[in-house]
Amino acid sequence: MPDPQPMSNRQRKIMERQAERNREMAAAKRSETRTPFREAELQFLSRHPPPDYSKALDFRQPVEVLLRDPKIKRVPLHKRISEFSDLFGVKDLQQEGGDLPENAYLHEDHPGLIYIPAAFTPTAQRNLIKGCLKDYSRHPNKSNLDTHYLVPDSGLWDLHENVFTGKQPSDDPSIFVQRKAKVDEQAGGYGSDDDDDNDSKPDNKRPKMKPKSPVPSIRTLVPIMDGTPTVPDNVPKDDPEPSAQVPILPPAQLVRKMRWITLGYQYHWPSKTYHFDQNAPFPEELSILSKAVVDAVDGVGPYPYPADDFVAEAGVVNYYQLKDRLMGHVDRSELNKEAPLVSFSFGHSCIYLLGGPTREKEPTPILLQSGDILVMTGPCRSAFHGVPRIIENTLPTYLQSLPEEPEWDIYADYLSEARINLNIRQVYPPNDSPASPVQH
Ligand code: OGA
Ligand code: MN
Repeated sequence: MPDPQPMSNRQRKIMERQAERNREMAAAKRSETRTPFREAELQFLSRHPPPDYSKALDFRQPVEVLLRDPKIKRVPLHKRISEFSDLFGVKDLQQEGGDLPENAYLHEDHPGLIYIPAAFTPTAQRNLIKGCLKDYSRHPNKSNLDTHYLVPDSGLWDLHENVFTGKQPSDDPSIFVQRKAKVDEQAGGYGSDDDDDNDSKPDNKRPKMKPKSPVPSIRTLVPIMDGTPTVPDNVPKDDPEPSAQVPILPPAQLVRKMRWITLGYQYHWPSKTYHFDQNAPFPEELSILSKAVVDAVDGVGPYPYPADDFVAEAGVVNYYQLKDRLMGHVDRSELNKEAPLVSFSFGHSCIYLLGGPTREKEPTPILLQSGDILVMTGPCRSAFHGVPRIIENTLPTYLQSLPEEPEWDIYADYLSEARINLNIRQVYPPNDSPASPVQH
């Protein structure tokens, strides 16, 4: 074969121009096929330029300003939220001043959405945050780390606390959580939210170029409760393979790799179905709290659900570092689609995109702030939603270090770069849960 002729400058310019045109055409084609939901996601994912946060709906702006938006309706709760449960922080109210809400809000474009802004006192928020990080994250509840690491039953947070408070030296070998896999040359890392696009996404037309890995491609960092269940109940739901490539990290760093834990019925992410035979005891205070929310919104929206019928059967705690996100999805794995889904936010604020039944409906960006409650009922329960952005520098001062409360330091340190979402669902129709024993 003769050597190819060296390219002249003119030829090179023509080729470069052609390549540029091809890229533009490809980009134009992609934007034609992008759905409005995806467009909104891209806007809020953008780092340069940063997103325009003023486009987001802030339920905490002065009520007279909020109600200028004709799509927003204010509905009184049948009593003040503090009267439904002490867990909203009733006991701290006098000490901390202020008051808890007596109204909820609805949005005309999102039938079934019920929003209760600022529903917890700072102390109540701190208690729930402690629960999410220290208590609920323990076995038998599973976390994304359990796939790859031998997390001790006493919990990863306790290890972190031991080192943080100097109870154990940071070079003590026993503080390092070991990998499950011993030898596994080819396996990948944790999985990341960059491989988040999945086949059920109608706007994802590009072929996947990734080589096949022996590790099933599950999203260990991003829970996607999306898609119709794909595995019949009688087929064993194997755990994903542990990877030998995950790093051994000090607890302070490993806690930041914890992306989710599941409560109650444990979730099998690869098949997007519940392990109906793995039912961990549901934290009692969270059962009471979520039932209180369902009670509080009784009579508020057009899709009522009796609080007596509500049983907290499954939950997810999502832990977001500042750069994390949760791509658009629908939570449709529960057999009971009539029961409300109750969702609490703590720590940094985020942009929550609330769409409709398909990605074609333009979503509303909502500024979810620490202490807000979002309840999804009726059609909103089956709406696309996601969290494309955690917003820096939005940690309330009452969640930062407190001079009078040194035990809070470790939580303040974690929250300085994090958001926590706790969401609770009923899985079965009322009186239909088999309430199976816990399996380890
Ligand atoms: C979920 C979810 C939203 C949030 O876990 O399914 O949608 O606010 N979370 O983090
Ligand atoms: Mn969800």
